[in-house]
Amino acid sequence: MTLVYLNGQFMPVAEAKVSPMDRGFLFGDGAYEVIPVYSRRPFRLAEHLRRLQGTLDGIRLANPHSDAEWARLIGEIIARNEGEDQSVYLQITRGADTRRNHAFPARVTLTVFILSEPLVTPPPAQRDTGIGAVSAPDVRWLRCDLKTTSLLANCLLRQLAVDAGCVETILFRDGCMTEGAASNIFAMKNGVLLAPPKNHLMLPGITYDVVLELAASHGLKCEVRDVLEEEVRGADELWMTSSTKEVLPIVVLDGQPVGTGQPGPTFRKMYAWYQDFKQTVMRAGE
Ligand code: PDD
Repeated sequence: MTLVYLNGQFMPVAEAKVSPMDRGFLFGDGAYEVIPVYSRRPFRLAEHLRRLQGTLDGIRLANPHSDAEWARLIGEIIARNEGEDQSVYLQITRGADTRRNHAFPARVTLTVFILSEPLVTPPPAQRDTGIGAVSAPDVRWLRCDLKTTSLLANCLLRQLAVDAGCVETILFRDGCMTEGAASNIFAMKNGVLLAPPKNHLMLPGITYDVVLELAASHGLKCEVRDVLEEEVRGADELWMTSSTKEVLPIVVLDGQPVGTGQPGPTFRKMYAWYQDFKQTVMRAGE
């Protein structure tokens, strides 16, 4: 039975109730994080909490907890749920008002929700044979660096991939690649790993950081700069990364093969480095 945390109490998920006047429900007015947990240890909790603080600042919500309090609550959720590897989802909304009103309530009582689900890594076939992607214009707002619960555009964009029998949608804005509908995207060209710079047009992924760190520590040449749409379409390899998908090779984009149409040699190296990092660092809670 899944036990969740809602506004100060731990309870079975079926008993957790939120008002329909909650601004998370009415306006998507909230912040969230997804934290992968390996061997019951949350990975890079401090970094996730720093990104959460950035989102809260960006949407003018006061953080209801200190980092130590978050660590305790998240630790309890992990302990109270089954599974060595979990995915912890936390969400803070601007709470319920007495009437529907776009402007903030005079007095805000935040809604704080924490859920743990089993961490399901992608099926081996996806990394062995690769996945397909489609592309679409990035029609989202200009604060994609904030991890807010207003995800309708991301949902519509991800569904384009699913409708085409693919896994991810790669987004382009003003001729440059921003990210995926729910992931960051990397391109390999002539032995160089290309990654878009962190700015307001993409989410600063925690897995994105790990991939760049692994590339640096293994001597893989990287360029963090705007990645042009034609560079993506002409890439030797494309990868998508996220906390739940880890690193996956994209072998088809809009029906065209990426490189050879097979997971590339650099993906295979990165995947091995990532798995080694997971066993030695993530599972050790470092
Ligand atoms: N999403 N970009 C977007 C738009 C995302 O939604 C995500 C992750 C990422 C990758 O971030 P990270 O490496 O920190 O997981 C990039 C999560 C998993 C989600 O919404 O479920």
